Amino acid sequence: ADILKIKTPALFVGVFKEGKHGVISKDLPNSAEIKNIIRKEFRCGLGDAYMMRDVPGFAAEKVVLIGMGEEDKFDMKALEDAHCAVTCFMEEYSIKEGVSTLLDEEALFKNHEEITLKDATIVAARKVHYSNYKYTSTFKEIPDHNVLKKFGFTTSKENTKLVKDAIATGKAIADGMLLTMQLGDLPSNICTPTYLGNCAKDLAKEYKEIKAEVLGRKQIESLKMGAFLSVAAGASEEPALITLRYTPTKKSSKKPLVFVGKGVTFDSGGISLKNKSGMDEMKFDMCGAASVFGVLKAVAEIGFDREIIGVVAATENMPSSYATKPGDVVTSMSGKTIEILNTDAEGRLLLADALTYVDKFNPEVVIDIATLTSAIIQALGHVHAGVFSNDEDLADALVDAGEIANDTAWKMPLDEQFAEKLKSNFADCANIGCGVAGSAVAAAFLEKFIGDYKWAHIDIAGVAWNRGDNKGASGRPVALLMAYLLNQ
Ligand code: BES
Ligand code: ZN
Ligand code: ZN
Repeated sequence: ADILKIKTPALFVGVFKEGKHGVISKDLPNSAEIKNIIRKEFRCGLGDAYMMRDVPGFAAEKVVLIGMGEEDKFDMKALEDAHCAVTCFMEEYSIKEGVSTLLDEEALFKNHEEITLKDATIVAARKVHYSNYKYTSTFKEIPDHNVLKKFGFTTSKENTKLVKDAIATGKAIADGMLLTMQLGDLPSNICTPTYLGNCAKDLAKEYKEIKAEVLGRKQIESLKMGAFLSVAAGASEEPALITLRYTPTKKSSKKPLVFVGKGVTFDSGGISLKNKSGMDEMKFDMCGAASVFGVLKAVAEIGFDREIIGVVAATENMPSSYATKPGDVVTSMSGKTIEILNTDAEGRLLLADALTYVDKFNPEVVIDIATLTSAIIQALGHVHAGVFSNDEDLADALVDAGEIANDTAWKMPLDEQFAEKLKSNFADCANIGCGVAGSAVAAAFLEKFIGDYKWAHIDIAGVAWNRGDNKGASGRPVALLMAYLLNQ
């Protein structure tokens, strides 16, 4: 379309940096004045915005330049950051309606063949859909904020279907992420294991392809999940073993894909009590579980041709006279005994039993997602999730998916030398190693309990939530997992 003729309160135009000067992403007939501004005032830094009113030649009331950074460095992150700038700008200036030309095929992709229109549209639509999310559940006074009501697009005739589908996909992923964020943000006195169980049942009510099953303490005892139960021992809250099962309308001969989530609704550390500083953050220790819910929701919205199962082991980790004590030995569902040297290394205990449990689904692939170790934050900060896998192709597929979705992950090692650190004098293994390479030792622990399937473990302790002013759940790694699924 001719962007000069677009009548809108705000027209967003992406501009790349080019040497000292910026350049309009599309060569506009009347761009001399804009180029002048760019030269003098606007640096086109990634995510920066610059507003101009009544620009000659433009039918739009305001033209807002959005910095896209350097063209050579353009990638999915730049695309997402630039779209974030659009929605942030609209929020800040209470702009109710606007047109974005950021996703300009010609300008964006001519020098970046590695980025497809489809993947870029998914990322952009996803960002636009969730970016104005505000947590409001536990406020009396709900802060005023813009929410996206309607979202349209225009493109060339031949791309119409592709773009339409990609927008629907992006929106579905955003809805999944919103569920993940919402659950992650809720405090542990509301978001209990029972609450998560009810959330699963709600998903089953909403989507006819999803069935939910919620097992309580008695049933978990019957399954002999001694490792899971040892974490729940100190909690008066009822634990829950939750299964969400998505079955496609058309029967598929493929083996199911299974996601397993750590659902510790509050991790006090148990008898190995955590330090008081930042302990509130441990309400986020169920973000693995929340991302499993997010994925199942997005899967049901998009529709897949194979069975996809989510299993969540949910409990609090609390100190009490019933709680597991350091040195206690428990028997896992697999029959292996575990000496619990530190009750704060609880995620791996419940995941151990969950990984044994899911073997009954005869899965092709099992991916567990967990806020498992603080050591992964030392290794990868809040930038990448850590991926450990017994299958190189699976690890690579997850890392690639992270790249496509701008929800990145880094491949980490899994080998026998880490497993050796878990030797115990009193049980088949201990639940902690010697204090170094904590994330790899935790992964090596999990591997002892897997069945005969391809398996990956994603440690999201560093990426599941944002710190600082932005404190709250991030919705990661739902987008990564969906990009992986869309590639299957
Ligand atoms: N939930 C924590 C890991 C965590 C820490 C997540 C910080 C997010 C932010 C986990 O249960 C834990 O406490 N892990 C211990 C293991 C240690 C005792 C071997 C850790 O990482 O310190
Ligand atoms: Zn812990
Ligand atoms: Zn934990």
